[in-house]
Amino acid sequence: MQKVIIDTDPGIDDAMAVLFACLCPDIELVGLTSIFGNVTTDIATRNAKALVEMARLDVPVARGADAPVSQAARPVAWDVHGREGFGDVAPITPDGQAIDETAAEFICRAVLENPGEIVLCPVGPLTNLARALELDPAIAAQVKSVTVMGGSLDAGGNVTPSSEANIWQDPHAADVVFAAGWDVTMVGLDVTHQVKCTPQHFAGLVKPAPVLGGFLNEAVQHYFEFHRTVDGFDGCYMHDPSAVISIVRPDLFAVEREPLRVIVEGAETGRTVRAAGSGRSATSVCTGIDVDAVRDLFLETVSSGF
Ligand code: BDR
Ligand code: CA
Repeated sequence: MQKVIIDTDPGIDDAMAVLFACLCPDIELVGLTSIFGNVTTDIATRNAKALVEMARLDVPVARGADAPVSQAARPVAWDVHGREGFGDVAPITPDGQAIDETAAEFICRAVLENPGEIVLCPVGPLTNLARALELDPAIAAQVKSVTVMGGSLDAGGNVTPSSEANIWQDPHAADVVFAAGWDVTMVGLDVTHQVKCTPQHFAGLVKPAPVLGGFLNEAVQHYFEFHRTVDGFDGCYMHDPSAVISIVRPDLFAVEREPLRVIVEGAETGRTVRAAGSGRSATSVCTGIDVDAVRDLFLETVSSGF
């Protein structure tokens, strides 16, 4: 059983990742922390709470940072995920609220209360993790591991020719995370751009899981439309759920061990690059993936829901 905190900017593929984690028997979802990126932090917080309530779980949500650690905030990705984050689904007001702690405070407390046990899984910009390290650097030695959805080693970018969206939103924070000396796995575009799913895959979730599968199928329509227009294929990538799946099924991924740094200025801002000789500890960069097994595990797990 993996004790996981997902740091998230929900977001359509974030919803896939969170609902997968809620249903996966090998994950204890300790909490969610919210972050800007696909939407504002206010909307991300509301959506995160709505997702765990939809899954009928009492999971704490801690509100994260409103802006990057150093640079000015970038525009949120409403064109990709819709103004309210779940495509054309109307805003969902949760019954409960975020807890009083900030995301950074919650991460530090959870890690120190569960030494060596917490897996942090950021699937948005890395600001909250950088803030948590700033608040208490001791967490770096107490976390079990960190699985990042973000970056791209050799696959190019998706918001600029060289930068992936989560890193581009806060490259300074990402560089702090790759330098922190904890056990980091990067699930970036090198693998997530291989995991495509189709409208048929999501339509197939509605009958076995009318509530959760029905919601995902409705939300993902906007994501399909974006990819039809921008990328020219009838489907979407499964970025964030691939990262969560790598925590419970690392055997489905091949990794290359590389110290990494992030370019924080100039035309290549947000690019993740090899940093041999930097003295940084190596990150496990996912470079291979069993696409069918990852997609099937996601679809089977959501279908097992309600
Ligand atoms: C990442 O950016 C966001 O749009 C997605 O939710 C995912 O976390 C992919 O580049
Ligand atoms: Ca995300």
